[in-house]
Amino acid sequence: MPRTLISLGSINADFQVRLNQAPGSQETLLAHGLHRLSGGKAANTAYLGALFGHRSVLVGRVGADDLADQALEPLRKVGVCLEAVTHAPGASTAVSMIAVPATGKKQIILANEANDRWDAMARERLSHAVSAAALPALLVLDYEIPAEVVRLAIEAAYQRGLPVVLDPSFPERVERGLMSKVRALTPNAEEAAALLGLVVDTEQEAGKAAKALRELGAAIGVVKLPDGGCVLACDDGVFRVPSNGQPAVDATGAGDAFTGTFAIALLEGLAPLEAALWGSAAANLAVTTFGSQPAYQGREPVKALAEQLRHGVTRLHE
Ligand code: RIB
Repeated sequence: MPRTLISLGSINADFQVRLNQAPGSQETLLAHGLHRLSGGKAANTAYLGALFGHRSVLVGRVGADDLADQALEPLRKVGVCLEAVTHAPGASTAVSMIAVPATGKKQIILANEANDRWDAMARERLSHAVSAAALPALLVLDYEIPAEVVRLAIEAAYQRGLPVVLDPSFPERVERGLMSKVRALTPNAEEAAALLGLVVDTEQEAGKAAKALRELGAAIGVVKLPDGGCVLACDDGVFRVPSNGQPAVDATGAGDAFTGTFAIALLEGLAPLEAALWGSAAANLAVTTFGSQPAYQGREPVKALAEQLRHGVTRLHE
């Protein structure tokens, strides 16, 4: 049965290139393989929502420019509802400049532009998207938009009883007082370290960080690890969910593949550990080709890989 996934946050025009050297190793680097793509955290999770057959509603801001078409066209094609995407007068659509070396470990420069330009009309569309969403529904969002907009959305979802999955990027924008209204927090290790003031370099440290996310108020704490696996803390305990160990071609959008698919699994009523298996499987599959959305895969491949990963789940000592 289709459900409603509301994705709120960044919508970007991605410009991706490949590099033979490490980014930053010289003043000028010769790149190749330029791709113009749709990206941004909310755009990426909305794309997944449609790919998994749900009513997928995107809420965010773009400029009145050709970059908006680059960001929105692939979403339109996959069936994402764009009625709550509004134009910020005089602003550029956000742009991500992404360099991907042979290791697949991308480096991103983000010009956030329209993502940070919200007005009363945009807030009104957001409130309507949350209050009018056909149930069951879930809100997945990020902090690449103003903190006050995130607050408005979380409060509205909470009042309506919708579960909320929050990707706390940018971590410095996070308002801790809201975290008790959030069902799940899904930072990567770097964001978890910044958010919590902890070192998050090892599996055990990730376990402590996942538990600390719960102490902030979220029912579920997930720390996404650089290999595509994660550490999950929930009522059932603390678990390490593995990756399949395949080397990455391009890690761009893997974290969003995790968060989006994890949110979809919760929306479908799966338990947190099952949702984390889906998330890790989606992240593993997302790094096998270039780009974010073009690399995302649907329900069947994700479920098949999640079944394989299940055998490698371990419980961490608490
Ligand atoms: O999280 C990945 C996304 O954020 C990419 O699509 C790119 O837009 C980056 O800024």
